[in-house]
Amino acid sequence: VDQINEQGHLTIGGVDLVELAKKYGTPLIVYDVEQIRHQIRAFKKVFEEEGVKYAVSYASKAFSCVAMYQVAEQEGAYTDVVSAGELYTALKTNFPVEHISFHGNNKSLAELEMAVKHHVGKIIIDNFHEIKLLDQVLKEQNAKIDVMLRITPGISADTHEYDQTGQVDSKFGFDLESGQADLALEQVLNNSRMNLVGIHAHIGSQIFELNGFEMAAKKLMEVAENWRNQYGYTAKVINVGGGFGIKYTAEDNPLRPEKFVQAIVETIKTEAERASFPVPEIDIEPGRSIVGPAGYNLYTTGSRKVIPGHRPYVAVDGGMGDNIRPALYQAKYESVLASDPQAPSTEHVRIAGKYCESGDILAEDQALPVTKAGSLIAMLDTGAYGYSMASNYNRNPRPAVVFAEKGKAKVVIKRESLEDLVHLDQSYSAD
Ligand code: LLP
Repeated sequence: VDQINEQGHLTIGGVDLVELAKKYGTPLIVYDVEQIRHQIRAFKKVFEEEGVKYAVSYASKAFSCVAMYQVAEQEGAYTDVVSAGELYTALKTNFPVEHISFHGNNKSLAELEMAVKHHVGKIIIDNFHEIKLLDQVLKEQNAKIDVMLRITPGISADTHEYDQTGQVDSKFGFDLESGQADLALEQVLNNSRMNLVGIHAHIGSQIFELNGFEMAAKKLMEVAENWRNQYGYTAKVINVGGGFGIKYTAEDNPLRPEKFVQAIVETIKTEAERASFPVPEIDIEPGRSIVGPAGYNLYTTGSRKVIPGHRPYVAVDGGMGDNIRPALYQAKYESVLASDPQAPSTEHVRIAGKYCESGDILAEDQALPVTKAGSLIAMLDTGAYGYSMASNYNRNPRPAVVFAEKGKAKVVIKRESLEDLVHLDQSYSAD
């Protein structure tokens, strides 16, 4: 656990969490901005030291809002977006459009039109339907655009099934074995409006093994080599995606995220040398590793249910609406008492959410001191895929998000109000 102040309270970015909860209410999501900056810098440092061209492209699906794009941009990160909504948000912040890449396995015509109109840096083409749509849009707008081809590398990452994307049977990317990737290459090379800058693969998320990344990097270089030999096409950029695993609980023991990148860069350099291939620009797309460890969810405890012979349920004022990961992936988190994070644990509890679902349990087994109603719980490492997957289930408003840095806290996403919840509703009568 991070810093503790004189009152014994947990602090983030020099800001007292107990004070924050008093001021802004709970549930509240707080980010340690310095930690976000630090991780982006650590990634960049690897490339700088290896002396290769690169882009650290923040995968904004992990947490997307105006302030987050601003911080990414300040640190010289690029970003990738997967929807008109993310693109719109990034553009609102004047994020350099040439540093935005656009992903997705079913980009709509409207989304492609928007991407081309604003001239995003790269469109990562996922499938044949998209080649057709994009061709249509480029003709309509009489435009050209840089693209990459996403291939499915045929690698099963050691992670939750829902977090795997690189195996052959995946909805993402062009299959290699069946020749689909080659066919896609031919189509794109024959299209004078599409400028193919390179090849992309992403094997999954929350991955701990170096091996999968090394295999993916090798595979990408193998494809690049084949395409050079067979088609005379030389890829300038190799994008290995994201997926670097982070530590959520004491059981997790991942390498530092930048170590994965180190291994990837070394693999690509070795492969390039072996094939006498010019060392390409290497792009990465980390999301979780940039924002995950920097985020904290603050909850206030309420009801407590004790069933003899079972772990008590301690209910909090949030739950699956602000963090669906425990319910969806059986994801685990550690929590502490924000007012006294070092207090010895005296019981094991289940931290229950407030949503009307039995599955809405934020933590199955959390050691904590015995808490009274009104205690403040800080759930750690919640910064990735928490708010970004939040919902209004049960018509609960989504929490506020605060950025803390150098002793100051600023609201970067306001708490939704009850009025916001009915904002889009229209009244109805049959006649
Ligand atoms: N690049 C591509 C093409 C991706 O699909 C993803 C994540 C990333 C990069 C970033 O991966 P990261 O570094 O964040 O692991 N909702 C799930 C995770 C879904 C990941 C989707 N794609 C979860 O909460 O675990």
